[in-house]
Amino acid sequence: MKKSLLLLIAVLFIFSASPAISSDIFIGTCVYKFNDTHLTEIRKSMLEEMRLQGGEIVFSDGENSQPIQQDQIDGYITKGVDALVIMPIGTTAEYAIEKAKPEDIPVVIVNREPDPEILKTYDKVWYIGSHAEESGLQSGQILVDYFKAHKEADKNKDGKIQYIMLCGEQGHQDTTIRTEYSVKALKDAGFELEELGRDVADWEKVKGFDKMKGFLSSFGVENIEAVISNNDDMALGAIEALKAEGYNSGDNSKFIPVVGVDATSPALEAMEKGELLGTVLNDAYNQGAAAVRIAIKAADGNEINKNTIGYEVTDGKYIWIPYRKVTKENLKEFILNKDLILKPREKF
Ligand code: BGC
Ligand code: CA
Repeated sequence: MKKSLLLLIAVLFIFSASPAISSDIFIGTCVYKFNDTHLTEIRKSMLEEMRLQGGEIVFSDGENSQPIQQDQIDGYITKGVDALVIMPIGTTAEYAIEKAKPEDIPVVIVNREPDPEILKTYDKVWYIGSHAEESGLQSGQILVDYFKAHKEADKNKDGKIQYIMLCGEQGHQDTTIRTEYSVKALKDAGFELEELGRDVADWEKVKGFDKMKGFLSSFGVENIEAVISNNDDMALGAIEALKAEGYNSGDNSKFIPVVGVDATSPALEAMEKGELLGTVLNDAYNQGAAAVRIAIKAADGNEINKNTIGYEVTDGKYIWIPYRKVTKENLKEFILNKDLILKPREKF
C-alpha cells in the first residue's frame, strides 16, 4: 500500500470523544495494534467512558512495531497530553515511563504486564490487567467438565487427550502462563495428555486458521481430540479450519472441543452456534473504564484508590480485573453484558 494511503487510514482511525461534561483533560492512547479484537473492545470501552467523564482522547495504532509506538509516545508528549495510556509492544512501557516522568505525565499500562521493578521507578504509573493463571486454569476446567461428561470424546480410547495448542505472541505473559495453566488444570483433574502439536499464531485469527490447517493435514481430523487456544481470535481461526472438514458446524457427532480466552463478541456468537465450546471473559469493559478513570484522576492530581476510581488498587500500582469462565450455561448473561460496552455508564 502507498505510504500516503496508510497515513490517511491512520488519521481516520483517530477517534475523539465529544465530552458530555466539559473537562480539559487530553489523553493520548497507544494501542499495540488496531487489528486485534480484544484490544478493540478495550478501545470502545475507553471511548465510552471518556464520553461520560468528559475530555478528549486519541488512539494511535502501533501496528505491532516498537519504533512506531515509541514515535507515537514522543508525539503525544510533544503535543502536551495530560496522561498516557499504553498497551505496550515489547518494552515500550519502559520507554513511556522514561519519557513521561520528567514531564510529570501519568502513565497507565494496559494488557502487557511490565517488569514490577519498572513500575517502582515512577510514582505515577499503574498497571491494569488480569491474572493470566486464572484464564489458563479456567479454560482448562471447561475442557475438564467436557471430557468428564463426554467419554466418547476420547476418540481412540487410549485414556489420553490428544490436543493442539495455539499460542499467542511469544514473550507476552498471557501466552506463557495460559499455555502452562490450561494444561495444568487438565492434569490436576487426573487427565493424561498428549500434545500432538503446538505453534505460535500471534493472537491472530488468520494465523490460527493456517496453523490448524497444517495440523489437520499432519494428524487428520479424526485423531485430534481438543484444541486449546490462548485467545478467541486464534480459536475462531482454528474453527474455520475445522469447518472446512465438516466439523464444528452443528452436527454433534462431528465436534472437536475448542476453548479460547477473551469472550469477544464473535466468540460469544460462535458459542451460541455451538462451534466454540467455551471461553474466559477478559474483561474489556472494566479494563477500559479503569484506564480512563485513572488517567483523568491522576492528571487532575488525585490519589489513585478505590474511592477515586471505583476499583481496588493493589500495592498502590495494580488494578486486577478478574477473569470469568464462560460456558453454555451462563452464556446469555455475557451476551447481555456485552452491550454494556456501548451503553452509557454512571458518571464516576
Ligand atoms: C488477549 C489477546 C490479545 C493480546 C494482545 C491478550 O491478553 O487475550 O486477545 O490479542 O492480549 O496483546
Ligand atoms: Ca485419546
